[in-house]
Amino acid sequence: MADSYLPPLISGELGQGTLKAAADRNFYARGTHPAALTSIDDVPISQLLQQFGSPLFVFSERDLRAKAHRMRKAFKTRYAKTSFAWSVKTNYLNAIIQVFRSEGWIAEVVSDFEYEKVRRLGIPGKDIVFNGPYKPRAALQRAVDEGALIQIDNWDELSHIEEIVAHARQPLEVGLRVWLDAGIRPVWSKFGFALANGEAERAAARIIGNPKLKLHTLHCHIGTYILAPEAYGITARKLVALREQLHSRYGHLVECLNLGGGFPSHSLLHGMAGPAETAVRPVEDYADAITDVLNDLPARKRPLLRLESGRCLVDEAGYLLTTVVAVKGIGRSVVSEADLSARDYKERLILGEDSKVGYVLDAGINVLYTAAWYQFDVRPARLINAPITPSRLYGPLCMNIDVIRENVDLPPLTTGDVISLHPVGAYNFDQSMQFIAYRPAVVLVGLDGKPEVIRARETLDDVQGPERIPAALAGTR
Ligand SMILES: Cc1ncc(COP(=O)(O)O)c(C=O)c1O
Repeated sequence: MADSYLPPLISGELGQGTLKAAADRNFYARGTHPAALTSIDDVPISQLLQQFGSPLFVFSERDLRAKAHRMRKAFKTRYAKTSFAWSVKTNYLNAIIQVFRSEGWIAEVVSDFEYEKVRRLGIPGKDIVFNGPYKPRAALQRAVDEGALIQIDNWDELSHIEEIVAHARQPLEVGLRVWLDAGIRPVWSKFGFALANGEAERAAARIIGNPKLKLHTLHCHIGTYILAPEAYGITARKLVALREQLHSRYGHLVECLNLGGGFPSHSLLHGMAGPAETAVRPVEDYADAITDVLNDLPARKRPLLRLESGRCLVDEAGYLLTTVVAVKGIGRSVVSEADLSARDYKERLILGEDSKVGYVLDAGINVLYTAAWYQFDVRPARLINAPITPSRLYGPLCMNIDVIRENVDLPPLTTGDVISLHPVGAYNFDQSMQFIAYRPAVVLVGLDGKPEVIRARETLDDVQGPERIPAALAGTR
């Protein structure tokens, strides 16, 4: 009996109406079919996939530069003494680093690997800001030798640096990372020295008191995807106050305030209502929040402002093109123009989420790490003139957790359809895993509209190159 129980219909109207009708009644509905995205920077998506295969990461150089120009203008017009560093970990593909480098950005790195990568690209030590809670001793030594700006994270690191410079002829310029409450949660207290309990001042005083060191920068990175520009105003004010305190107590005026990164891209976290353009404030608001504080200082006391943004500069320039390889779903695979019958409606009530139509894509969370937090915009690559229906997007991995979107309204798709996921330019490719599948190629559409591979699709040799078989196992058949 219990097995065949079907709950009563809550509303005859809902049970008999189409999903389209329900969407039409919904004030927040965005329309009956999402606009298609057929090209990126005027290059047809069909051409991109034909040329480079699926799945495929595509970056727009036009967008990267437009974001850099807008940010530069926003800050430089308000505060000329601004310097920009590219947060390499946000996207460390060499071609992307080169775009920002050509725009005048220096590099901000957080590990020995990133340090080595940008050095090999030819970026000199003087153009590197070195952050992170763990900088191996050899990396610290190299950074000291090459004149990079090390932003010290903890007491142990400070001790290492003191040892390294003990016999130096010139004082070494360093930065100090500080953490503070900027009114947002969570507070990133993992990194740097606490402001509130005087720890940051003690560390600064120790550096100032060491003739082999020169405190060049006070640094604070409050987090990522920070939706409140006001938090930057608070951060700036607190760093300025610390700088003033150090000046009056120890006679040293710190040259540079580094406000980190953290400005959001036009993206949405799961559960947020869109469109992203209304949820995310423009970069000019962030510039106002920071520079209003600095411009209040007497001109001779104004510090160099440094920013080390990642997400807001690169996220929207990145797309992932992926192909539907299978259509799944219990009951109807797609909702056609026909009304849902009462029986189908009841089935959906019982099965809940599991009744949804599902599409298996050829790209999954192995290359879209941030799918856990962000709801990517999903666009079919062709216009499909049919009602939308709640759908789920599965990745290709043999793992139940491989779901890109739990719930997204899409018109009916068929095997072979291509969709774009956007924005995915920040923290996806470089956090991608070689797990079960090869990582896809990455293409940059240049300013001339020409797409070029900036990272080839992985091969078996790339993946198993570092593997070795012990001699005793080598002959095993
Ligand atoms: C020290 C530091 N600087 C800059 C960034 C870049 O942040 P975002 O990509 O949010 O701009 C990060 C990332 O969390 C970071 O840890």
